Amino acid sequence: MRKVLFVKANNRPVEQAVSVKLYETFLKSYVDSHPEDQVTELDLFQAHLPYLDATMINGAFKFSQGIPLTPEEKQVTDIATKYLDQFMAADKIVIGFPLWNLGVPAVLHTYIDYLNRAGTTFKYTAEGPIGLASGKKVALINARGGYYSDGEAASSEMAVNFVVRNLYLFGIREITKVIAEGHNKSPKLRGKIIEDAIQLAVETAKTF
Ligand SMILES: Cc1cc2nc3c(=O)[nH]c(=O)nc-3n(C[C@H](O)[C@H](O)[C@H](O)COP(=O)(O)O)c2cc1C
Repeated sequence: MRKVLFVKANNRPVEQAVSVKLYETFLKSYVDSHPEDQVTELDLFQAHLPYLDATMINGAFKFSQGIPLTPEEKQVTDIATKYLDQFMAADKIVIGFPLWNLGVPAVLHTYIDYLNRAGTTFKYTAEGPIGLASGKKVALINARGGYYSDGEAASSEMAVNFVVRNLYLFGIREITKVIAEGHNKSPKLRGKIIEDAIQLAVETAKTF
């Protein structure tokens, strides 16, 4: 039995949101094909996560150094630690998110802020940071209205790239991507782009 964490970072309705459609398709296909696994869902918009700020930065630093935290620092650091522990306990993680304004929804940024904890997901060494979360598999389920796979636009895409670079920092290299893109740019191809991505989500989930 594998522990699988599904993280959802879009609260638009499934009828309107391509990334939610892909996420839900992947989730259903995964559960159907892996009935023995323990699946947990985390809806980031429902979680109402406090932003990373001075109090949380100080709390996380003291936590990693074994220094006592103030009550305020403990309160917000405990919230981050709860999500960090849940992430570390998972064998596989699936993250569903849209491209918004060239980046990730703020809730996903905040969640990844929580995962960046020296001593837990990575450690500093004289040769640079070393990831401590290797061995996990991650699937990124994403939709973006424009086309960013190559050309000049590729470097403007800071959602999938942002998540991937953070996972690399944590030592996670087994990353599978299911991406629908260009459906807002090409109205004629919209239906086919989305349908192909849905099929890819179904098939990828079976072997993830
Ligand atoms: C607030 C907002 C910002 C967006 N920013 C971009 C963007 O920077 N580039 C882009 O190609 N599409 C952008 N889109 C379009 C989405 O990427 C597209 O609708 C995609 O399917 C993901 O959103 P969805 O899962 O809600 O459908 C944006 C959409 C919204 C609602």
